[in-house]
Amino acid sequence: MSSESEDFQAALETALPILRGMKKSLRRSPKATQTSLQRLQAILPSTFEKTGTEHSLTQTPEIASPRIPVNGDDGRLAKLERLKKDILGCTRCPNLVASRTQVVYGIGNPFAELLFVGEAPGEEEDLKGEPFIGKAGQLLTKIIGAMEYSREEIFIANVLKCRPDMPAGESGNRKPKPSEMATCLPWLKQQIELIKPKVIVALGLTAVEGLLGEPITMRDVRGKWLDYSGVPLMPTYHPAYLLRNQTLSEKRKVWEDMLLVLEKLERPISEKQRSYFLEKAS
Ligand code: URA
Repeated sequence: MSSESEDFQAALETALPILRGMKKSLRRSPKATQTSLQRLQAILPSTFEKTGTEHSLTQTPEIASPRIPVNGDDGRLAKLERLKKDILGCTRCPNLVASRTQVVYGIGNPFAELLFVGEAPGEEEDLKGEPFIGKAGQLLTKIIGAMEYSREEIFIANVLKCRPDMPAGESGNRKPKPSEMATCLPWLKQQIELIKPKVIVALGLTAVEGLLGEPITMRDVRGKWLDYSGVPLMPTYHPAYLLRNQTLSEKRKVWEDMLLVLEKLERPISEKQRSYFLEKAS
């Protein structure tokens, strides 16, 4: 295979799970412009012979996602695929290499306008290789849904790509060490540079400190716009905190942060969305 077709194959392997995810969440085939379909058809006729299978696409005169450049992929799919291989093979922290089941690269749309950044994989994420799928992840998925996004439309990643190891005989999770975060941060930085989100949401103090590289108090920054290399950064509470503090007022704080995010992204906000958690919040 030439390197061009290897790149294309890699890009296709990245794109197909996303299209399948969209198909599942939308309960219909994802849409693509006629031009994109014609371009794909020229390169990959077999994709179109499989109409009715998981590969089927339908045509629309609209651009399916305003974030996908009209001229198609800007090269990021192949670059992200190469980055993913490097991240999955990372051996920079010997202690984490020894304890991890696998590296958790991140998941979602390579063209996402919205990127959520968490702390580090927990036990379930380490086992399955996907971020935010445990209890806190299920709450995050609900928040994403309430924002009228699906997990496939946005991107979710962590500051630390490996589950922090625990001392022998101890269970549970520990916070990543500053040295581990500093070692791992270049991976997230490259993901952000390639995905080019319009907004980043940092979930919890560790994510904010990891991204900004300085000590911070959540009380000072939650709900206020910060800046990460020119990208607006919204710090909010980690969903695990909300699971521990199930008061309407704390839920409302996170929701207000998400309303600010939706406004920044110029997404329509319904009256129902505006009033979530308002009734008894104090
Ligand atoms: N908590 C995080 O910060 N990240 C995950 O992926 C899961 C739980």
